[in-house]
Amino acid sequence: MRLLITGGAGFIGSHYVDLRLKRYPRDLVVVLDKLTYAGNPANLAGARRNQCFKFIKGDICEARTVERIIRKYRIEVIVNFAAETHVDRSILSPEDFARTDVLGTQTLLGAVRKNKIKRFLQISTDEVYGSIERGAFRETNDLKPSSPYSASKAGGDLQVLAYRHTYDLPVLIARSSNNFGPRQYPEKLIPLFVTNALTDQALPLYGDGLNTRDWLYVEDNCLGLDCILEKGVFGEVYNLGAGNTRNNLEITHTILKLLKKSIGLIKRVPDRLGHDRRYALNTRKIRDLGWQPVWPFAKALKDTVEWYQAHPEWWQPLKSGEYMKYYRQQYHERHKGK
Ligand code: NAD
Ligand code: DAU
Repeated sequence: MRLLITGGAGFIGSHYVDLRLKRYPRDLVVVLDKLTYAGNPANLAGARRNQCFKFIKGDICEARTVERIIRKYRIEVIVNFAAETHVDRSILSPEDFARTDVLGTQTLLGAVRKNKIKRFLQISTDEVYGSIERGAFRETNDLKPSSPYSASKAGGDLQVLAYRHTYDLPVLIARSSNNFGPRQYPEKLIPLFVTNALTDQALPLYGDGLNTRDWLYVEDNCLGLDCILEKGVFGEVYNLGAGNTRNNLEITHTILKLLKKSIGLIKRVPDRLGHDRRYALNTRKIRDLGWQPVWPFAKALKDTVEWYQAHPEWWQPLKSGEYMKYYRQQYHERHKGK
């Protein structure tokens, strides 16, 4: 098979590239990535050693670029990871989110239609359903996104479903819960707290720290995504979660314990605007396709913490420059008027 993987230089996309190259050594894998602050060529260091791998720097919003790649490499399948992904950034500046997550998805769908692509997998998120106090969301639940990020992802999903309905395109949607693992940009909870703890900096815990997420190890997520791509029914949505429900305070304490650091590093900070309280997914549908997570949560978190401990050369350069500009802007917004 000849695949185009967009956003493949990011966290999950790069793990999926590694999985595909290992599992299907005869396939061609082409990555198209804009290399925003979150895209990192170092994430593809392993893939670059493989002759079946190609990298192209470019934007999914540019139809001509997408078209050229599809023709040149005779692409048959597209998996779309490319997105602006950080909720806090979407609160500070939402514009790029609508552009990439909605219009970029639409551009790819146009190319799927024009070039008779055989399969298109849209990588979406559990955040499109919004927050849930009790129970778990099914794929048939209404979308109630509450941040500019999740609203943009929901916009992308609706485009995918509309293109299915109108043009009968061979599309699939995966809605995953919170991923963690090696190579996650250190602005997200787990890599931020691990790298801050390693350098004895404060861990900024939002609000009461009791917001809850379902944590999914990135390798399990990629196996689930591959299961959907290979076995999913066109036009269907599949939830992907491991049922590892933990609140942020529990995650923080576990990280500090693993690193043998003091709980005195925890710093309570003003809450995220519009902060979703709890996410939870019903995953019966993907389990019926034959997928289930294989990583025990405690082992996956321990391995993740150890990976950041062992790879300061990966994360230290990221915690400067553009990254610090974002943190200063966020700090200013959070403490405005206080
Ligand atoms: P990430 O921020 O680590 O990577 C995103 C990648 O997309 C980067 O390499 C970036 O350069 C690229 N990109 C951004 N805009 C682009 C554009 N216009 N054209 C081409 N490339 C562009 O993200 P991630 O955490 O790996 O998430 C990947 C996908 O999975 C996203 O669609 C996200 O919404 C979804 N998702 C993430 C999680 C999670 O917990 N991280 C959970 C559920 C779903
Ligand atoms: O649920 C899937 C989503 O998970 C993905 O679609 C998003 O791309 C991904 O960023 C993630 O969104 P979250 O907002 O859940 O993840 P984040 O790591 O930003 O925050 C997790 C929780 O930790 C959330 O309740 C906010 C809290 N938090 C986060 C940061 C960065 C803090 O308390 N302090 C922090 O500094």
